[in-house]
Amino acid sequence: MTQLKNDTFLRALLRQPVPYTPIWMMRQAGRYLPEYNQTRAQAGSFLGLAQNPEYACEVTLQPLRRFALDAAILFSDILTVPDAMGLGLRFVTGEGPQFERPLRDESSIAALQVPDLDTLRYVFDAVSLIRKELDGAVPLIGFSGSPWTLACYMVEGAGSSDYRRIKTLLYQRPDLLHRILDVNARAVQAYLNAQIQAGAQAVMVFDSWGGVLADGLFQQFSLHYTQRVIDGLLREHDGRRVPVIVFTKGGGQWVEDIAAIGCDAVGLDWTARLGAARSRVGDRVALQGNLDPMALFGGDAAIRAEARRVLADFGPVGAGGHVFNLGHGISQFTSPEAVVSLVDEVHTASRAYHA
Ligand code: CP3
Repeated sequence: MTQLKNDTFLRALLRQPVPYTPIWMMRQAGRYLPEYNQTRAQAGSFLGLAQNPEYACEVTLQPLRRFALDAAILFSDILTVPDAMGLGLRFVTGEGPQFERPLRDESSIAALQVPDLDTLRYVFDAVSLIRKELDGAVPLIGFSGSPWTLACYMVEGAGSSDYRRIKTLLYQRPDLLHRILDVNARAVQAYLNAQIQAGAQAVMVFDSWGGVLADGLFQQFSLHYTQRVIDGLLREHDGRRVPVIVFTKGGGQWVEDIAAIGCDAVGLDWTARLGAARSRVGDRVALQGNLDPMALFGGDAAIRAEARRVLADFGPVGAGGHVFNLGHGISQFTSPEAVVSLVDEVHTASRAYHA
């Protein structure tokens, strides 16, 4: 395997010394880039992009050609797994993802199974192709949704504003929800391990909807199943540790709990205070985050000041680890020039914190 030219991201996740704070952005390949929209038009649709390894590879690399990012993230979606389980994923323009056959009755929940990984071969082929094309420039991140976040989409059938269906299931028939979460945990574990075997050098679990759960229920219905995923992950591949990041949107209050499930890093959204989170977990894990994606609309000076504020909040890195990121995905209305300012400021200003 080719030697990594820039391993800052992997080293920071493992709390090893680095000369500056590495940065990547959630949804870094996406609609704010004109070249992405062009490739997407060529592919015909979002799924056309994601399911074709050549297109998926092309859009994964696009942000890296423009910006000095320290990691690439596989271009795909968390909903490929329930799609492979037979729920029928489609994207309705302007409305986001939808499932044709959501889990709405006991018999469909009883019939749910870990998908044959061969139906997701296009994802693993994309991972291998991206690794080849990256040629060691930066590490490649693989990812999956958390069992809970996937279950939300599988039961709601789409995005939701109140999570009424899944919470009805939770309070009325917790046994059925546990059955879905059990299948999801086994599926996600196998899916991430296949990405690692195909060449993913770090993996991230997106628990985007964990934050809608009450305290106590979050631990039981989300975190427990993410822990089960992590328990069975390959932690080393090709002679290198494969770090695991867990990102729970709205999960700042649970940072100690999340840090205790065996991950290497915890992702935080912009509502958390990095310094406070760090004093609570005490450098047992690295932290990833957490600039408000909307700060990128503030103009050059504000972007740079906000980036410095996040770096200062984490403080002198010492024995800790900080990976700079946004607190959630980059907005499709962001100007690419804003990202140039952000990456430059993080790379320059962070050096003072890595004495
Ligand atoms: O970060 C990256 O650049 C990698 C690619 C990536 C996508 N989705 C591409 C995508 C990743 C890591 C995801 C994860 C994902 N997908 C999550 C977890 C992260 C989060 O945002 O909390 C969730 C909840 C989804 C489900 C999903 N997929 C939604 C709600 C949407 C519609 C939202 C929107 O922006 O339209 C998608 C579609 C999607 N996934 C797009 C992209 C680039 C936009 C599709 C398009 O081109 O129209």
